[in-house]
Amino acid sequence: MKITVIHGQSHKGSTYHITKQIIDKISGADKEVYEYFMPSDTPNYCVGCYKCFYESENACPQAEKVQKLVESMEASDVIVIDSPTYCYGMTGQLKTFFDHLGYMWLSHRPKQAMFRKVGIVISTAAGAGSNKVTKALAQQMFWLGIPKVFQYSKSVKASNWETIPDKFRESIAKDISNLSIKVNAIVKKVRPDFRLRLVFTIMRKMQKSNNWNMVDHDYWKENGWLDKNRPW
Ligand SMILES: Cc1cc2nc3c(=O)[nH]c(=O)nc-3n(C[C@H](O)[C@H](O)[C@H](O)COP(=O)(O)O)c2cc1C
Repeated sequence: MKITVIHGQSHKGSTYHITKQIIDKISGADKEVYEYFMPSDTPNYCVGCYKCFYESENACPQAEKVQKLVESMEASDVIVIDSPTYCYGMTGQLKTFFDHLGYMWLSHRPKQAMFRKVGIVISTAAGAGSNKVTKALAQQMFWLGIPKVFQYSKSVKASNWETIPDKFRESIAKDISNLSIKVNAIVKKVRPDFRLRLVFTIMRKMQKSNNWNMVDHDYWKENGWLDKNRPW
């Protein structure tokens, strides 16, 4: 099983340790893990040049870093993204990375490989907001065409992994066991559900009449998606 792990932070706190436990549980001896930490592996912020949309993703001033992550995601069966909850949102450095993936949204040039992936998104908060973060991360994954995304959010009542109360550690371990069973059951078998197919159909209709961005239009045409081909 190939797994890309993108940590929305560089320190190894509660969020990191929960992610690590999930990775250990979902993979066997054949696992290959590609791991990235934000911000050291993050591209610099998007400057709004629109080159990825109107020319090519390779024309982005940050293409080298962005494409390294994209290639890794494309090659993986499972994509895991985590972030501590910061002010009711994901970390700024993780959002910076997502801004660079806009060209891969269903509304532009989604990658065929994404329609077969399983996503896992994880966030911890001291008190409230971690479910908002996993929801936002899952939304990003949906728009990349990832058909199944598991969300794990936890209020850990702590500012670091060492001080998490025992009862929370126990409940986390139990949750992770349950989650890993669900993930293992569908890896390499997942297919888009009705909602994803519907959004794809709407985007297809839009791309048929798209005369404002020929890079996107030609991409859909070359993939045969304006005819009978589908990415799943
Ligand atoms: C800048 C900053 C903002 C935070 N914002 C929130 C918040 O909105 N809600 C919350 O419950 N905890 C918040 N926290 C606490 C962390 O989300 C919480 O301790 C989390 O478990 C830390 O994960 P980590 O150990 O992986 O860094 C914040 C912490 C920091 C440093």
